[in-house]
Amino acid sequence: MHDAPPLAPGPVPLRRCGDSGLWLPVVTLGLWQNFGASTPFDAQRALVLRAVELGVTHLDLANNYGPPPGAAELTMGRLLARDLASRRDELVLTTKAGYRQWPGPYGEHGSRKYLLASLDQSLRRLGLDHIDVFYSHRFDPRTPLEETIGALGSALASGRARAVGISSYSAARTAQALDVARDLGVRLTVCQPSYSMLNRWIERPDPAADGRSLLDVAAQGGLGVAAFSPLAQGMLTDRYLTGVPADSRAARGGPLRASYLSEENLAHVLALDVVARARGQSLAQLAILWALRDPRVTTVVLGARTPAQLEENVAALGGPPLAEAELEAIDADAVDAGVNLWGPRSSDL
Ligand SMILES: NC(=O)c1ccc[n+]([C@@H]2O[C@H](COP(=O)([O-])OP(=O)(O)OC[C@H]3O[C@@H](n4cnc5c(N)ncnc54)[C@H](OP(=O)(O)O)[C@@H]3O)[C@@H](O)[C@H]2O)c1
Repeated sequence: MHDAPPLAPGPVPLRRCGDSGLWLPVVTLGLWQNFGASTPFDAQRALVLRAVELGVTHLDLANNYGPPPGAAELTMGRLLARDLASRRDELVLTTKAGYRQWPGPYGEHGSRKYLLASLDQSLRRLGLDHIDVFYSHRFDPRTPLEETIGALGSALASGRARAVGISSYSAARTAQALDVARDLGVRLTVCQPSYSMLNRWIERPDPAADGRSLLDVAAQGGLGVAAFSPLAQGMLTDRYLTGVPADSRAARGGPLRASYLSEENLAHVLALDVVARARGQSLAQLAILWALRDPRVTTVVLGARTPAQLEENVAALGGPPLAEAELEAIDADAVDAGVNLWGPRSSDL
C-alpha cells in the first residue's frame, strides 16, 4: 500500500491528478449509458444537477455517448446553457475520440484528421470553446503514436483542450505514449482505464513495460488515473444478487453481456456482498472504496441511472477505511471475471 492520498476539502474529497494542477473529485459521473435520446431529458437533467450539487463536478463524456452518438454531449450542452452556465469553470468536463463516430476511415481510431475534427464537433454539441480534458479513446495500431499524441498537443496548443489524456492504453502503450509526448513537448495529464474488483488488469505487471503495471507506469509518468466502470457496469451492486431486474442494464441487452452473469461470477459477487454487509455498506459502496484504496487512482468514473444510486455511491466515501482483514477477504473473490469489454476493442490490452 502507499501513503494516504492528499485530500482537499470539499463535499466530495479531491485528489490531485498525477503531477498536474488539476484536482478531481474522487467520484466522477460518466454519461455513457442513460444519456441516450430514449431517456427523458428531465431524468438526465436531474441526475447531472444532483451530481454537481453533491460535489461530483467531474463529468465524463465522449463523442459517441448516446445513442445516437453525440446525444450525451447535446444534453450536456443544453444543461450548460440553461442550468450550469454560471458554474462552467467549477466543472471539469471531458470528451474523447477513438470509437466510430461517422462512416469512413476518418470517423474513428487515432488519426490527426479524425481526432481534431471530432473535437470540433464535440465542442459544437457542447456549446463550448474548450473542453477541460480531451482523450484519445483507444490506442490505434494503424496510426503512429506521434500523430495521435501530436493531435492531442494541437488541441492543447490551440486552447481547445486544457488537458489531454489517453484511455484504454495498455501499460506498455502508455509508457510509449509518455515517451512520445515528452519528445513532442506535450504534457499528458491522465489515463482512463477500466478497473473494478472483477477487472484488475491495471494492477498486473506488463512484460512489455519492463514488468510494470499500468498503475506503476502512470505514477512514474505523473499521470492521474480515472478508473472507469468501478461497479463492473452494475454487477458490483445489489442489482443482480437475486435475478435480473427488468429496468437493469443487463435486461436492456446492451454492453453488460448475459455471459458476464455466469454462475461463477455471481458466486464471487455474492461473497463480496457478504463483506460489504458486514461493514454496514452496500456492495456498490464497497466496490467504490476498494477501487480508491490505492492513491494512484485519482477518481472512479461511475455511472448511475437515478439520483438515488448516485447518492448511495457518494455516501460510500463516509464509510470506514478498509481493514487489512477485509482486503484479504475481498482478494479471494475480487478475481478477473472476463468482463473487460474494452480489452479486445483497444487493440492490445
Ligand atoms: N474510456 C472508456 O473507454 C470508457 C468505457 C466505458 C465507460 N467509461 C466511462 O465510465 C462511466 C461509467 O461506466 P459504467 O456506467 O459502466 O459504470 P459502473 O459504475 O460500473 O456501472 C453503472 C451502473 O451500475 C448501476 N448502479 C450504479 N450505482 C448503483 C447503486 N448504487 N445501486 C445499484 N446499482 C447501481 C446502474 O445500472 P442500472 O442502469 O442497471 O441500474 C448504473 O448504470 C461511463 O459513463 C463513461 O463515462 C469509459
